[in-house]
Amino acid sequence: MDAFEQRLKKEQLRREEQGLVRDIISLQPAGAGNIVAARHSFVNLAGNDYLGLGSNQWLIAEFYEGLTPENRLELFAAGSGASRLMTGSHPGYQELEENLARLYGTGKALVFNSGYHLNIGLLPALAGKDDLILADKLCHASLIDGMQLSRAKVIRYPHLDYGCIEGLLGKYRDEYTTIFIVSESIFSMDGDLADLPLLTSLKEKYGAVLYLDEAHAVGVRGERGLGLAEEQGVADKVDLLVGTFGKAWAGQGAFVACTNLVYDHLVNTARSLIFTTALPRISIHWLNFLLPKITAMAAERELLLSNARLLRQGLQENGLITEGDSQIVPVIIGRADLAVAVANQLRQHGFWINAVRPPTVPQGTSRLRLSVTTDLSSELLASLPQLIAETAAAL
Ligand SMILES: Cc1ncc(COP(=O)(O)O)c(C=O)c1O
Repeated sequence: MDAFEQRLKKEQLRREEQGLVRDIISLQPAGAGNIVAARHSFVNLAGNDYLGLGSNQWLIAEFYEGLTPENRLELFAAGSGASRLMTGSHPGYQELEENLARLYGTGKALVFNSGYHLNIGLLPALAGKDDLILADKLCHASLIDGMQLSRAKVIRYPHLDYGCIEGLLGKYRDEYTTIFIVSESIFSMDGDLADLPLLTSLKEKYGAVLYLDEAHAVGVRGERGLGLAEEQGVADKVDLLVGTFGKAWAGQGAFVACTNLVYDHLVNTARSLIFTTALPRISIHWLNFLLPKITAMAAERELLLSNARLLRQGLQENGLITEGDSQIVPVIIGRADLAVAVANQLRQHGFWINAVRPPTVPQGTSRLRLSVTTDLSSELLASLPQLIAETAAAL
């Protein structure tokens, strides 16, 4: 074994010792709320298909029946053939972006290939060496990577600590050209919510730019499913509102709703938009098909929240969680190896639940990340907390 291989081996051994090894497992969707792994069926509590649209057979049938010569699968290769700036931006993109801009009441919306592409593209394009980025400590890895790729000074503030942000804004306002505040609306691993009226008032008071990642809130929150900023009545005050299509939309891609000037700047400078092949037309067609439907799914959004509240209530009664009000429900276990052991035990009972460990979450906070969907029955949601509590206590 050469030195390089030895180094990798040592790192893998260290991961094994700490219960931090990750693996890719083949999983097959198996209808509403279920998945199959190694020929066993499990209730899926680990995905992000919150409204169950990815396994809604009626919706999918309607989608494929409605395909026209412009997007019929058999008439096109699976790929789009070029970057959006070359020949990859087929007409579906324009329709989608115009409709998103209209919904969000912004000058423009710009679609990227994924939330990851978008988040690693925005800050390097918009923030320079004379700028400051203030970001929540628990921001998603894609946002952190975007900050690292930018040349701006970065300060991570304690999770949801708005007093700290105000202190930093006051201290640094005159030292930097632009200050960006970066936050998620529903935090991806904690399921807790940002206070957006407070954040928008701070950004207005200090003339900062607010960059809000609504990956887990679009489709899910707000009257038309535009996100938590819609629900909290401040969507028009967010400068860079980001949504992803890979979660509640059961699709692929992401968008930023922004002004005309920001749009022009990104089209000219965002490397993860410019230097990558565009999405296939079938992906964009799904999003155009879904847009008028998902905006009308207020009843599904209510069901999702009531499912989540039912689960949270049961977990609270079993002493397992304390706060939060969203479809992402973390049960903190602590040690990584214990979290993995609890998740494995729950698999024996037919539940697919992931143990989330460092570096995704801070040391000592390994957890089960329960992801509620509209497909889960109230009986199941009512009985699961006791099983989790007994399983965790037995280890
Ligand atoms: C908060 C947040 N932003 C961005 C992303 C990345 O989105 P995508 O899966 O479309 O790359 C995720 C994915 O988990 C996320 O949780």
